[in-house]
Amino acid sequence: MKTQFHLPAGPYFLSHSVGRPLRSTQQHFNEHFFAPWQQGQSEPWPQWLGAVQDFTTALARLFNSEARLFCPQVNLSSALSKLVMAHPGLSKAKCKVLMSEQDFPSMGFALQKSLSPDSEIVFIPAGEDVSDIQVWQSHMQADMDMVFISQVYSNSGRQAPVTDIVATAKELSMLSLVDVAQGAGVIPLDLALVQPDFLIGSSVKWLCGGPGAAYLWLSNEQLPSCEPKDVGWFSHANPFEFDIHHFAYHDSALRFWGGTPSVAPYVLAAHSINWFNDFGVDKVRAHNLKLQRQLLDECESLAVSPMSEQHRSGTLILHGGAKQEQMMRELGQHNISVDARHLGARVSFHIYNDEQDVAQLISILKRFI
Ligand SMILES: Cc1ncc(COP(=O)(O)O)c(C=O)c1O
Repeated sequence: MKTQFHLPAGPYFLSHSVGRPLRSTQQHFNEHFFAPWQQGQSEPWPQWLGAVQDFTTALARLFNSEARLFCPQVNLSSALSKLVMAHPGLSKAKCKVLMSEQDFPSMGFALQKSLSPDSEIVFIPAGEDVSDIQVWQSHMQADMDMVFISQVYSNSGRQAPVTDIVATAKELSMLSLVDVAQGAGVIPLDLALVQPDFLIGSSVKWLCGGPGAAYLWLSNEQLPSCEPKDVGWFSHANPFEFDIHHFAYHDSALRFWGGTPSVAPYVLAAHSINWFNDFGVDKVRAHNLKLQRQLLDECESLAVSPMSEQHRSGTLILHGGAKQEQMMRELGQHNISVDARHLGARVSFHIYNDEQDVAQLISILKRFI
């Protein structure tokens, strides 16, 4: 498996930050981005737009939904702002949203600035267990308009009980949005089963698809009521109508697209997502859990991420107590790529990691037990 990816010299455990590129991606990019541009008789747009459609089709397969419900986006923050300004239930005065202090800060920034000024964001305090549905239920109230759910919390290595939170939101007539930035490509999510209202995600982490290929998904029920504000000709039902006095929203999620789209990031990401679709995200997760068990068998006392596999994400969080800084230094000196946040070192095992990589890591960690 290692030979299929570009990898650095030492073990690479940073897939929660940037996944490694497939070796085959470069050729795919040359064929689908450069070739139509370099060799085509006419302009390359038909092929380029087809390549972006491959991206939404790949996402539909990954999340078990329809391609027309996905819109390419630059990043999650931008997708979130656009959605809030477009949806009548989120753009209204005095909107009330529930999220966690453990969510990625950029998500909070985007909400604070895009919600109307009299709106309220209620935070589940950082110390509470976001893997526990009872914690969510104790905060969710019928006067709230939306719950923001991170499928995975990157600093604590926890998964949220997404299906149960969405079900509770429906009972309370709240909207639900799932952020899959840290889960896509390692923790399977079936939109037909979970049925949230919205989903935002990217391709840069476990999907190994590079930056700039994010996406916004809306349910069939929510899509028609959305009226995006920052539109462009690619948001139009007929981009080539060219009547400056007439604008009509595209009937698909592409109404969120805007002006002339970027293409290159989606060509890269579509190839990678399709590779993972063929391989199977459930197999990525099974491999990830197997390597996590290998580490925990020997170093369980360092782990601060959950012991239950159902609550644990693709990332283990390890803390060396008083020797944490020394532990990080020694890992770096041995060419082992991990990073650290306030709860500890973040260690992610992907399909391109193997037992030897984990054994190398364990040999260093054991000095800190
Ligand atoms: C849970 C989560 N959401 C969102 C993001 C990134 O958001 P954006 O694409 O706006 O940079 C990250 C990045 O690490 C993340 O971990």
